Amino acid sequence: MGTLIRKATVNDAKQVADVINSVISEGKYTLFDRAFSEEEERAFILSLRDRSAVYVAAIDNAVVGVQSIDLFANFAECVRHVATMGTWLRTDFRGRGIGRLLAEESFRFARSADYRKVVIQILVDNEAALRFYRSLGFQDIGIARLHVRLGGKFHDEVYLEKFL
Ligand SMILES: CC(C)(COP(=O)(O)OP(=O)(O)OC[C@H]1O[C@@H](n2cnc3c(N)ncnc32)[C@H](O)[C@@H]1OP(=O)(O)O)[C@@H](O)C(=O)NCCC(=O)NCCS
Repeated sequence: MGTLIRKATVNDAKQVADVINSVISEGKYTLFDRAFSEEEERAFILSLRDRSAVYVAAIDNAVVGVQSIDLFANFAECVRHVATMGTWLRTDFRGRGIGRLLAEESFRFARSADYRKVVIQILVDNEAALRFYRSLGFQDIGIARLHVRLGGKFHDEVYLEKFL
C-alpha cells in the first residue's frame, strides 16, 4: 500500500477535518481545542493562496495525515520569509515515515514560495512531535513559559526553527 502525498482540494475537506479532529480529541497534542466542521475546512482550503498550502497523505484514497504550511505572522513585510507548519496524523499511521514524507513536500513548497525559514511552537510535553521536528533539522530556540492555556491550565511551549 503506497502513500500518496498531494495538495488538499476542497473535496478533501471532510477527511481533512476528520483527521485534525481525531488529534484534537486526543486532547494533548494540538493547540486547537474545538473540532472543525467540514464547512470551515472547506473555506480554509479555498482561502489558500500562493504562499500557503495544505498537503495530505492518502492511502487507498483515505486521508491519514495532514500538514499545513503558512506565513508565520502577517503584520509586517520584514518577516515574510518566515513560515510556520502543523502536522496531524491518525494514531494508527504514526511512526511510519509519513510525517517525514509530508514535510519533504512542505519544505519544497516553502522554498518555492520564497520562505527562508520555518518556526514552530510545540507543547513541551509532546515528546514525539519534538523528536519528529528535531529529526527534520529543527533546532530549539527556547521555551515560552505558560504560553498556552488549554482546559484551564497553562502550558509551556518550545519554539523551534529550521532554515530552508
Ligand atoms: C508528530 C507526528 C506528526 C510525527 O509524524 P510521524 O509520521 O509519526 O513521524 P515519522 O514516522 O515520519 O518519523 C520521522 C522521525 O520522527 C521521529 N519520531 C516520530 N515519532 C516519534 C515517536 N513517537 N517517538 C520518537 N521519535 C519519533 C523519528 O525519529 C523519525 O526519525 P527517522 O525517520 O529517522 O526514524 C505524529 O506523531 C502526529 O501526528 N502526532 C500527533 C499530532 C502532533 O503532535 N502534531 C505536532 C504538533 S502540530
